[in-house]
Formats: sequence, C-alpha cells, structure tokens
Amino acid sequence: MSTIKKVILIGYGTVGQGFYKALKASPIEGIELKAVVVKNKDKERDIAVQYDAIATVESFYYDVIIEAIDDSEVAFTIARKALINGKTVISASKKMLAKHLIELKELERTYGGTLLYEAAVAGGIPVLQITDNYLANDTVHSVRGILNGTTNYILTQTFQKKINPTEALKQAQNAGFAESNPLNDLNGSDARSKLILLVEKLWGIVLKEEDVLTFGIEHLNSDDVQYTQDQYKEIRLIAQAIREGDEVFATVLPTWINLNDNLSAVRAEHNAIVFECEYLGEIQLTGPGAGRGPTGKAIWNDLWQASQSNRYNQLRLHLQSLNTKGHKVAVYVRYSNEAIRSTLTFDKAKETIVNGEFKYLKGLIDVSELQKHKELLQLDKATVIATGYSLEHH
Ligand SMILES: NC(=O)c1ccc[n+]([C@@H]2O[C@H](COP(=O)([O-])OP(=O)(O)OC[C@H]3O[C@@H](n4cnc5c(N)ncnc54)[C@H](OP(=O)(O)O)[C@@H]3O)[C@@H](O)[C@H]2O)c1
Repeated sequence: MSTIKKVILIGYGTVGQGFYKALKASPIEGIELKAVVVKNKDKERDIAVQYDAIATVESFYYDVIIEAIDDSEVAFTIARKALINGKTVISASKKMLAKHLIELKELERTYGGTLLYEAAVAGGIPVLQITDNYLANDTVHSVRGILNGTTNYILTQTFQKKINPTEALKQAQNAGFAESNPLNDLNGSDARSKLILLVEKLWGIVLKEEDVLTFGIEHLNSDDVQYTQDQYKEIRLIAQAIREGDEVFATVLPTWINLNDNLSAVRAEHNAIVFECEYLGEIQLTGPGAGRGPTGKAIWNDLWQASQSNRYNQLRLHLQSLNTKGHKVAVYVRYSNEAIRSTLTFDKAKETIVNGEFKYLKGLIDVSELQKHKELLQLDKATVIATGYSLEHH
C-alpha cells in the first residue's frame, strides 16, 4: 500500500482555487493537502493560508508542490528547490517553464524528482498527456493551434460579432479572460511559451524564445479586418511548428484562415491543437484553454498521476537543431513608414495603397528578414499576417 503524499499548494487565485475546488469535490486516495500559501495578507480568504512561500517549502515536510502563482521568479525558485530535493513539482506557470525548461528537466533527471505541467499548455485540454502517451508511437510531422484564449476571444468577437478589436479586448477584460495588462497575450508571447513546451514534448528540442518568429495582434486595426473580410477570410493567432528531418521550425503569427477551416469553429476563449501524424493522419483537440474549472482539473489530473507515481515518458526522439534559414512565409504587411517598403526584401511583392492612407505589401518573404526587421515593424505599429498555414522551404 502506498504511503500518504503530502501536498503544498502555492497560489490561491484562478488556478489555485480551481484546483482546491476540484480536490474537495474529488479527493484523491493517498493525497493530503497540508498547506495553502499566498502572498497578500490584506485579502480575505475562505480557507486557512500561510504567507511566506519560500519559508514554507523550506520548513514543511512535503512530497508534492503545486505551484500556481503569477510571479515567474518565485515560481522558478520554488520549482528548483523542490526538484533538487527529489520532490514532485506540478506547475501552471508556462512563462517560467518555457524559460527554464532545460534546467528543470536536468534537475529532474539528476535528483529523481518529477515535473508535471498539463495546466500550462491549453488549460483544460489534456494535450501533454496525449502527446506523451498516445502520440509517442507515431511520427508527428507538425502541430498548429490556437493556444491563447484572450486573443481568440478578441478575434472571434471581431470577425463574428463585427466588434472592433479594442472593444473586444475590453469585453474580454470585463469577462475575466484577459489580464489588466494583456500585452503577453496580444503580442504572441504567451502562445509562444506554450508552443515551446509542446515542441519539447513532441520532439525533445527546447526552443529559445528568439528561435520562434512571433508577431501578435496588438496593432490589428479596422483596415486589416475589413481587408481580411473582403478576401472571405478570418484571422486567428496560430502557433505552429513543423518538423523536417532533424530540424524544427516554429512560428506564432496572426494567420488568415478560410471560413470553413476547422479552426474557424474554435470560438471565444477556447483553444485547439491540430497534429499531422504519419499513421493517424490529422488529429484535432479542442476545449477550454483557460479559467478556474479547466485549469483546476488539469492540476487535479497531474496530482492524480503523481499519486500513482506516474511521470512523463522519456522521449524517444531528441532533435538537436533548429534551422530557419531558407524558410519563406507568405504575408500581408500593413505599414505607415516608407522605410518598411524600402527595407524589407520580398521575393515577390505587390504593394497597394488605398486612399493614400492604408498601405500594405503582400508577398513571399524569408523568415529571417521578418526577424531582422521586427523592431522597425513594431515601432511602426505595422500588422504582419500570414496569408496561409504553409511555410515554404527553399
Ligand atoms: N488563469 C488561467 O486560466 C491560467 C491558465 C493556465 C496557466 N496559468 C498560469 O498559472 C499561474 C497562476 O495564474 P492565475 O490566473 O491563477 O493567477 P492569479 O489569479 O493572479 O493568482 C495568483 C496567485 O498567486 C499568489 N502569489 C503570487 N506571488 C506569490 C508569492 N510570492 N508567494 C505566494 N503566493 C503568491 C497570489 O497570492 P494573493 O492571493 O495573495 O494575491 C494569488 O493567490 C500563472 O503563471 C499563469 O500564467 C493561468
């Protein structure tokens, strides 16, 4: 018979409360919640809490730490300490995990602890479990998906309810999906963190943030929306990674999709992931990408795995390299500053100017060209949209 595993929960916000409720509703045999740790002493709580996270993990005996806090530095310190002590860490902090994955995995290997993080990628969709178990016996050629609920909410409101992007953001904030500072959602960096975690699980390579060509929807305006609608398309923020032999190539880009595309049906804060597999063909997972219930259940499920002493499988594949050279993407670039037209080198480009105000270029461009001039594009508040999923390798 297994011994009781003692658990400390750090963070009692959206995710922490969701987990607490899930555990109350479905207790796990062999699991005992010993303490809940938070930060702010002035908040009213409906349960007993501790306050100093680091001191608590240093002074309490525990087997499992659940870390669901919004401070990446503290989250990393806690996860590191726990793994060095050979404990189990369950984390929801995608930003922290994507940044420190190599070191955390190394500590897990060296000291025999366990790191689980289902809630960090696509909220309630069990995408890591499925990738780790079911897809491990197939060759996955590519993955693409909608990994950020806030931007998907904004885009579906914009295209399906005909509300402008700024108004849709306000609605998302009022509904509690978007944070008061939603920049990491809007600029694509939240989706990029999740893509980095997914790529590691699929192919064993940890991409650096700068390896992933990333543009967001923060500068999307009504001209971009109108023009997209005129083409009978919608926009979604698509995170995509493609494996070619020993190489992986990854992007996060606003992307035109056809109105009958499966991803067009993924509405509001929902997420979706599409895998292209050798034997299974195309598999799509869709579900709630964020929120108290789904993320709480994802943590509950990781804890259940920990209660069975389960861990992620060792990867069968360890790709070493990333090569963006020679990859080209078809884009629409709406800009103001003339320097953009003269600086960006397209393979074939067509420039259009409407009423002297609305200027855009359409054509095929090398990914490295967009990377190199990202700052210029950002300063101009230009919008970059991929005009399809396909990435050409020349
Ligand atoms: N919300 C989602 O749907 C979602 C989905 C997937 C992943 N995540 C990730 O999960 C993590 C938590 O997100 P959330 O939405 O639950 O955040 P949240 O609602 O803002 O709650 C954050 C919690 O962390 C606690 N906290 C912050 N710093 C702390 C510290 N130094 N010591 C102890 N507790 C501390 C806060 O304490 P106080 O209560 O005292 O303020 C609060 O209870 C983040 O990394 C987020 O990116 C969130």
